[in-house]
Amino acid sequence: MYDMVAMGAWIEFAIRWVHVITAIAWIGSSFYFIALDLGLHRDRNLKSGADGEEWQVHGGGFYHVQKYLVAPAQMPDDLIWFKWESYSTWLSGFALLILVYYLGAEFYLVDPAVADLATWQAVGISMLSLAFGWIVYDQICKSKFGDDNTRLMIGLYVILVGMAYFYTSVFSGRAALLHLGAFTATIMSANVFFIIMPNQRIVVADLKAGRTPDAKYGKIAKQRSTHNNYLTLPVIFLMLSNHYPLAFASEMNWLIAALVFLMGVTIRHYFNSLHSRAGNPTWTWLATALLFITIIWLSTAPMFRVAEPEEATGPSLRFAQADGFDQVHDIVLGRCSMCHAAEPAWDGLLWAPKGVRLETEHQIAKAAKQIYLQAGVTHAMPPANLSYMRADERAQIVAWYQAATRQ
Ligand code: HEC
Repeated sequence: MYDMVAMGAWIEFAIRWVHVITAIAWIGSSFYFIALDLGLHRDRNLKSGADGEEWQVHGGGFYHVQKYLVAPAQMPDDLIWFKWESYSTWLSGFALLILVYYLGAEFYLVDPAVADLATWQAVGISMLSLAFGWIVYDQICKSKFGDDNTRLMIGLYVILVGMAYFYTSVFSGRAALLHLGAFTATIMSANVFFIIMPNQRIVVADLKAGRTPDAKYGKIAKQRSTHNNYLTLPVIFLMLSNHYPLAFASEMNWLIAALVFLMGVTIRHYFNSLHSRAGNPTWTWLATALLFITIIWLSTAPMFRVAEPEEATGPSLRFAQADGFDQVHDIVLGRCSMCHAAEPAWDGLLWAPKGVRLETEHQIAKAAKQIYLQAGVTHAMPPANLSYMRADERAQIVAWYQAATRQ
């Protein structure tokens, strides 16, 4: 039978591939429409009765786009909708969350030094927080508080910072920033699913029935797309952050996340102004640079010095008790720990690569699957075999892992 761990890794890769592609499609179309909308010429009294028009050139042809407010007099039969870009991004993202963080909760989601949660508790908090986030956000937007757009944006920002703090006090740093991204992205996708699309359908139905659509639907959709516009860039930062321990593994990680949302605003403001020909506010780049420098400075604030148990406990116990653990322990100490330590001995490394530390019995047992995949089944680690790992040592890792997982 094909190795199940290797199979799992391939499934994860496939879904990640899909996730990145759908996200590109979603964000790409969203950026396109934002720029198109802002760039429309609205002063041309078009014969068609359209509100604005724009000429574009791409791929060897010229495009003449017109925008109708609230809708054209007659509904075309072949209307193209943009929604699956968003839905498929959320669905593949949630599948990844399950695969990486729920099924790998031991290694990625729970950090006993932050909060000693059982896997089911951590997964429960994760799912509830995503659902709850949307409900609270949606209610605030619909309330009186949401009537003033600026006040609403500031209120939402406060909620995001609160969530950043909350996540960093229940999950590992890596999972915390990723969850903040998932929290925000869930709101964005739910905006499309629960608000923007249903409102659009009402307008289409009205037109087909010969009624004049209420302009309020367009206004609501506009408010939600504006939020999505400003949230896009921070979400991408948060999704990528798990590759950079500097971003997630410092005690200031929640503050870093809070500043990232502000960078999202300063960068978007520049492009929004540019597209709408409202000016060229270069000061936004100065603001962005200052925010980024602050983040860089915060990231080297003391790294988590976690008071981890030395000995394996919980689900990783079986790896510590399996045949061959003592030899594997020695192999890892000899071939991996010079890099994968709190203070690596390897020249040029300032922290454990990817935050993976392999020093104590606990850390090694907990990372069993990773060690098996990176140094047993494949030769990904040590990089370029810098620490001269031998084939028989890899075979010992494989034998140990299989002994521990054999029922
Ligand atoms: C010379 C230094 C060095 C040695 C020795 C080394 N590693 Fe690594 N390891 C790295 C670096 C650098 C990365 C980050 C690679 C990247 O950025 O994709 C890494 C990443 C990893 C990761 C995380 C992979 C991921 O994508 O999440 C694991 C797990 C890992 N190493 C395990 C091991 C094991 C097991 C050994 C010993 C058999 C080992 N490493 C030996 C430098 C080292």
